[in-house]
Amino acid sequence: MNRNFKTILVTGGAGFIGSHVVRRLVNNYPGSKIINLDKLTYAGNLQNITDIENKSNYTFVKGDITDGAFIDNLFQKNDIDAVIHLAAESHVDRSISNPTEFAITNVIGTINLLNAAKKELGK
Ligand SMILES: NC(=O)c1ccc[n+]([C@@H]2O[C@H](COP(=O)([O-])OP(=O)(O)OC[C@H]3O[C@@H](n4cnc5c(N)ncnc54)[C@H](O)[C@@H]3O)[C@@H](O)[C@H]2O)c1
Repeated sequence: MNRNFKTILVTGGAGFIGSHVVRRLVNNYPGSKIINLDKLTYAGNLQNITDIENKSNYTFVKGDITDGAFIDNLFQKNDIDAVIHLAAESHVDRSISNPTEFAITNVIGTINLLNAAKKELGK
């Protein structure tokens, strides 16, 4: 990991993998600001990361990656220079019962992040 990254956005940081990634980044990169963006669905739980919630380089933002305007605004307000994208619908049984929700979150949500990053890089 490049230690020169000043602001790292982690999506899905209240989930299974994201919570471990957020903890590791917050503890190992005290000079970087770590933003955890999570919608807190049935799969997200901030209890996973209570040990780092008061660290000065950590910020939690409750929000939805499928909301393009919200994501654009987040990128405009924060000088994000790296993104680790882990927010997703990930439960296989739910993908069978509600595939549309999976497509919207996993495809449109990812496109929103890519579009916002591209817009900010282009400035
Ligand atoms: N867990 C595994 O074994 C595994 C293996 C390989 C790949 N992956 C992939 O890694 C990623 C993360 O997996 P996980 O197991 O941590 O998932 P998870 O379901 O535990 O966590 C997903 C997180 O995303 C958040 N989220 C869901 N929709 C959101 C939205 N619209 N906006 C913002 N946040 C939202 C949830 O609240 C949750 O905190 C997924 O893409 C998954 O497919 C997981």
